[in-house]
Amino acid sequence: MLYQPSPGRYADMPYRRIGRSGLKLPAVSLGLWHNFGDVDVLQNFRAILHRAFDSGVTHFDLANNYGPPPGSAETNFGRILKQDFRGYRDELVISTKAGYHMWEGPYGEWGSRKYLVSSLDQSLRRMKLDYVDIFYSHRPDPETPLEETMGALDHVVRQGKALYVGISNYAPREAAEAIRILRELGTPCLIHQPKYSMFERGPENGLLDLLGQEGVGCIPFSPLAQGLLTNKYLHGIPDDSRVAKGVGFLTETQLTEARLSQIRQLNELAQQRNQSLAQLALSWILRDERITSVLIGASKPEQLTDSLRCLDNLQFSPEELEQIEAVLG
Ligand SMILES: NC(=O)c1ccc[n+]([C@@H]2O[C@H](COP(=O)([O-])OP(=O)(O)OC[C@H]3O[C@@H](n4cnc5c(N)ncnc54)[C@H](OP(=O)(O)O)[C@@H]3O)[C@@H](O)[C@H]2O)c1
Repeated sequence: MLYQPSPGRYADMPYRRIGRSGLKLPAVSLGLWHNFGDVDVLQNFRAILHRAFDSGVTHFDLANNYGPPPGSAETNFGRILKQDFRGYRDELVISTKAGYHMWEGPYGEWGSRKYLVSSLDQSLRRMKLDYVDIFYSHRPDPETPLEETMGALDHVVRQGKALYVGISNYAPREAAEAIRILRELGTPCLIHQPKYSMFERGPENGLLDLLGQEGVGCIPFSPLAQGLLTNKYLHGIPDDSRVAKGVGFLTETQLTEARLSQIRQLNELAQQRNQSLAQLALSWILRDERITSVLIGASKPEQLTDSLRCLDNLQFSPEELEQIEAVLG
């Protein structure tokens, strides 16, 4: 079936500037870490991508190792781009990353120039693209000089294989250093991708302040704590859930009684705001103007539609924020 993007796709999505750059991202972006591999159903993930673009989601986030098997999310995404999004490349912001283990031997992970440059070449081949919009160092490498890793990012921009670069999972001190080096090289750090949600508050300890001061964007990943911050686990573990599938890092051990009690209380607060828990969790992050976009996942088009409705209510009263803090402890 021929896909025709909705003519009204830009009507409802707010686009936020990434730090002090010229580029904007949709307030909600879609990640392809789970649900887009060869183990998943093409018709379903194709429908998720259509729903996303039809809703104004212009940013799709990948990495070399997304699947499983590693690389298959990029290959599948490339296929759908060719089939359905031909002619729309200039309306899309596509990112990929390298840093985690991707191939055997000493050059298949971390932060050397050797690994980063060849990994991006492989990603471009899998996605059948000439360039990505954003290329990330997926994690800091304790053994490679930061100058080399950042130099590789600068290099791929000069080669025309990436338009912008970013960093992910860098602690504030490492991020500050990376931002400084990239600025000196003349390829400013566009954006940082940290893990941040109501259940993962690390970036509040200095990272958000740093990014705000430096004019670098912030796109938190797993803002729904991989599904914990939704109504998914309120009544047990559904068969089609990430916990039940057992393909990633989310396991039943994380569903402690204390966690479930927080989830139930947050769900009640969400209902008082006429939101689903997923919507509450996302609007709570987006209320901070240093956040460029929330990077969500979805295993069904309906989840995406539900999550996108977070945009209907981004305002929190001081009382609501206090109630949330009381639950989160
Ligand atoms: N830089 C990094 O190191 C890094 C690490 C991790 C992720 N990421 C990026 O961040 C993206 C998002 O990560 P994530 O998938 O963990 O994000 P997430 O949004 O926290 O979790 C997504 C999962 O939550 C459930 N869900 C989503 N919307 C829902 C809704 N409205 N109602 C009920 N359940 C809902 C689904 O779980 P079920 O599958 O159980 O239905 C979905 O697969 C990734 O795709 C990737 O691009 C980056």
